[in-house]
Amino acid sequence: MNSISSYLSSSIGRKWIVALTGLGLFGFVVGHLIGNLQVFLGPEPLNRYALFLQSLGELLWVIRLGLLAMVVAHIVFTIKLRMENRAARPVGYAVTNRRAATFPARMMTLSGLMVLCFIIFHLLHFTAHKIDPSFAHMTDAMGRHDVYRMLILGFQSKAASTFYIVAVGLLAMHLNHGIGSLFQTLGLNSAKLRPLWEKGGVALSWLIFLGYASIPVAVLTGVLKL
Ligand code: HEM
Repeated sequence: MNSISSYLSSSIGRKWIVALTGLGLFGFVVGHLIGNLQVFLGPEPLNRYALFLQSLGELLWVIRLGLLAMVVAHIVFTIKLRMENRAARPVGYAVTNRRAATFPARMMTLSGLMVLCFIIFHLLHFTAHKIDPSFAHMTDAMGRHDVYRMLILGFQSKAASTFYIVAVGLLAMHLNHGIGSLFQTLGLNSAKLRPLWEKGGVALSWLIFLGYASIPVAVLTGVLKL
């Protein structure tokens, strides 16, 4: 028990927690995207999928609490690492390598905070239905929550769609750098492996951006309609 707590308070232990919680959240982002893309198959598969998620009952709450715990740990341990790094070099470097850091790397805190704000808005929008309360009462012919209708009506608002597209762009940027950091923490940064995960990270981030952004874009362009 003691060795676990001393590992968790070590810098390497904290790095592992940030990496593993990031990996868990990445898994959710991929799974959620695959679920959402069913909107292109029409109302029936999407509403059936949403009903299946709701039917998980207590298990759904376990998953939600697990996600919340990962988000909190990811943020708290990132802050702790940042504070430790600052304390370790209070004066700062005479010559910084800031220019060598890529744009996504310099944007990690900002993109992370923006994604957090987006998630809060998104939960109020499509889960708690606080932005448009009529979303809560939409049912299809089979009496299921009409998630398809809710998405189409939600994304017919240009402001909401633009916000989602910008937010998933920031999410993709955050993941792009996060994937690199993950492999570094796992020690997979040899000269051979590095180009592989760098290219893979860029490709995956683009896929995630294009996948999520395709939904509001399809609604705005009339490809998806009621
Ligand atoms: C175009 C992009 C997206 C669409 C269309 C979308 C759609 C949805 C819908 C319809 C729900 C409610 C499901 C229901 O109550 O039946 C939902 C919930 C949720 N979404 Fe998204 N989402 C998108 C992007 C994202 C992103 C990028 C994230 C995270 C970074 C995210 C995280 C969540 C979370 C955490 C929930 C709550 C799950 C729950 O507790 O049941 N979503 N989303």
